[in-house]
Amino acid sequence: MKALVLSGGAGTRLRPLSHGLPKQLVPVANRPVLFHALEALRSAGLRDVGMVVSGEGRPIRDAVGDGSRFGLAVTYLPQARPLGLAHCVAIARDFLADDDFVLYLGDNVFGEGVSAPLADFRAHRPAAQLVVRKVSDPRQYGVAELGDGGRVVGLWEKPAAPRSDLAVTGAYFFTPEIHRAIAGIRPGGRGEWEITDAVQWLVERGADVRATVLNDPWWDTGTVDDLLDCNRAMLDGLEPARRGGVGPGTEIRGPVAIEPGALVEESVVTGPAIIGAGSLVSGSRIGPYTALGDGCSLVDSDISHSIVLDRATIHGVGPIRSSVIGRAGDVRRAAPGRRTHTLLLADDCRVELAG
Ligand code: DAU
Repeated sequence: MKALVLSGGAGTRLRPLSHGLPKQLVPVANRPVLFHALEALRSAGLRDVGMVVSGEGRPIRDAVGDGSRFGLAVTYLPQARPLGLAHCVAIARDFLADDDFVLYLGDNVFGEGVSAPLADFRAHRPAAQLVVRKVSDPRQYGVAELGDGGRVVGLWEKPAAPRSDLAVTGAYFFTPEIHRAIAGIRPGGRGEWEITDAVQWLVERGADVRATVLNDPWWDTGTVDDLLDCNRAMLDGLEPARRGGVGPGTEIRGPVAIEPGALVEESVVTGPAIIGAGSLVSGSRIGPYTALGDGCSLVDSDISHSIVLDRATIHGVGPIRSSVIGRAGDVRRAAPGRRTHTLLLADDCRVELAG
């Protein structure tokens, strides 16, 4: 059994973060989303991973390497353009050979991993085993309709009028049957080779297609709201740690991890929260549910329910809530007496000023 992890794509819904960073490397609880995925695959007992990357995929290669530190062996599969999930399977044909495999979307996080659906797949070895979950707005996902015994009777990609509230999540288990299905489909409405269409092709030809209905939490971190939600849940499992310094006048409440070289002084930190390596927190309130990256500077500020990427500076500003601040971002109060806002924003940035 192999794994095919998709870490390419355009990341349009996560702009501007995805301009400089593949969306799979955006951190939740200070670890790239993709690392959570790789750990889930390893704990399900998988080892051989094909990793589809956009172009040469330099940032992903730099972050993941040969996979050995995750206990995995990673083979990189460059995709020239994001032509769809089924296209990714097609370009991985040689890597996959005639093995069964799990197709895992690199921006998905499963709260309890993927061992249970993998066991379901192994028990019956259907042509395809999907993992579906009830969601409040199925229109932004692939949607499955189930019949008796968890059999899939129909599938639609982002339907305007969904026939069920079961979203198709980003873990699919396949036998080599799927390759015949992919050869039988054409690009869909988005101009992409949809895996949903390939699975529907199997359904229409009477193949055994099943679904595991998931009750555990699951996130498709393709949007900022989902990213923040996933960050909150991952921080809920945080191991408190004091690897950095805590200066005078500081109050630490609840689970807080302070990484090496970080310094927290004259501040209130409410867990769960992480202060990344080498960061300074001074005269501030931070948390709950906040992950501050490495080398950040948070001075005279107040931030909660947020993700701050490495090397960001936040001075004299707050309260900031439900925000994501990109690498080396700089948010600061203007000099006293200034009555105007000054903004230097890259493409697709979003700012909401209160008051
Ligand atoms: O997250 C679950 C949803 O994922 C399913 O409900 C949908 O049926 C499925 O089509 C997919 O929808 P998304 O619109 O969320 O897919 P997205 O374009 O975000 O791509 C998913 C992952 O695959 C992401 O990590 C990027 C990667 N990817 C995507 C494309 C289109 C590639 O590596 N290459 C590609 O060509």
